Amino acid sequence: MNNFIFENTTKTFFGKGCVKEYLHCLAGHYGSNVMLCYGSGSIKRNGVYNEVMEILHKAGKTVTEFSGIMSNPTYRKVLEGAALARENKIDLILGVGGGSVMDCCKAISLAAVYKGDIWADFWARPGIIDFEPLPLGVIVTATGTGSEMNGGAVVTNEELKVKTGKDYPICNPKFALLDPVYTFSVPRRQMISGGFDTLSHIMEIYFSRPDEENVSDDIAEGLMRGVIRDLRAAVKDPLDYTARSNLMWEATMAENRIIKLGKQTDFQCHMMEHQLGAYTDCNHGEGLAVLHPAYYRHICGAGAVKFARFAVRVWGIPANGKPLEELAKAGVEALADFIRELGLPTSFGELGIDKGTDLQAIARSCPIVPGSYKKLTHEEIYEIFQECL
Ligand code: NZQ
Ligand code: ZN
Repeated sequence: MNNFIFENTTKTFFGKGCVKEYLHCLAGHYGSNVMLCYGSGSIKRNGVYNEVMEILHKAGKTVTEFSGIMSNPTYRKVLEGAALARENKIDLILGVGGGSVMDCCKAISLAAVYKGDIWADFWARPGIIDFEPLPLGVIVTATGTGSEMNGGAVVTNEELKVKTGKDYPICNPKFALLDPVYTFSVPRRQMISGGFDTLSHIMEIYFSRPDEENVSDDIAEGLMRGVIRDLRAAVKDPLDYTARSNLMWEATMAENRIIKLGKQTDFQCHMMEHQLGAYTDCNHGEGLAVLHPAYYRHICGAGAVKFARFAVRVWGIPANGKPLEELAKAGVEALADFIRELGLPTSFGELGIDKGTDLQAIARSCPIVPGSYKKLTHEEIYEIFQECL
């Protein structure tokens, strides 16, 4: 394995009833001004808002609300939240939602205390954060991104048409509360999209060097088999607690840095999807579902040994003396079949992307990362986009 240092500073509370049990005590560690951040109102419809507000009021907190955090949160929204946090002398930011809310809150926690422009200094390029952001706690209501236990915050700069994120460990939430029951009300389409995002994270880590036997790949294979099993079960019965709780922890495990240890990691597919999102505002997990098979058809020849291992160990395809390349392709096609089985979109058309969209401009704007088995060119990214039409 490659060398690594590991630390994860988020204290994580998992399971049915964990918000009721621990939020009061956790909030007690911070001052009285809490900024409650959420999205477009699902927490008001499913009762989570009332539950959280009651706890905060009992804990004697003064609550400032910051709502309307959109899917694919924008830099403008971050600045709006930061101004509100400063105005109200906020001691604790509490994000209640999915990846969009959590990411926006992480960026707010920095912008609220930083004198300069956080986009220019920490998003446009990697920077060094040598100050303490406002403390952040999160309550997860939709699983998939794993944002609850990392420092990553993916933000869209609409003016620049760039969607990007960096994982700054100092932005890890101080605490994360994960009650699987809170995810029961997530619409089926989002549940599937979130589950696929998790699978994508694991694949983006797994398909990168080193490929000699290593603990991270072994855990990744177990996690991928788990996501496939649990997504199938949750599609059949969205109230299946076992499936939903597994999906929740699989999402966290995929992105809490554990399976990245000793791995180079790829994330080229995420780079393409993020730019697609910057131009079209498409749903993150669905965008990945369209791109992954096309991307992997491009690189599986160069990484045939690993893709063949994926076919056998993740999809249970018997090797039976098949040539390596054939087995590798069978693994990619098993993934494509699974995407169809889940009813995820399989083309840009199904993703709702306009025919007139300038795919060449999007392709040119995609960062090229070195982690994959085959370094793409912008022309190849455009070809991949064409294959998704
Ligand atoms: O707006 P609200 O009311 O919150 O409704 C949301 C939203 O419409 C809804 N929802 C959430 N919990 C619900 C619920 N509806 C009913 N009941 C509940 N319990 O679900 C919709 C989608 O939510 P969103 O947070 O946008 O989805 P997701 O969790 O997939 O997050 C996507 C964002 O995270 C970024 C993506 O790029 C995208 O911007 N990512 C963040 C990562 C990270 N920080 O590590 C890594 C990922 O690769 C990803 O890029
Ligand atoms: Zn993702």
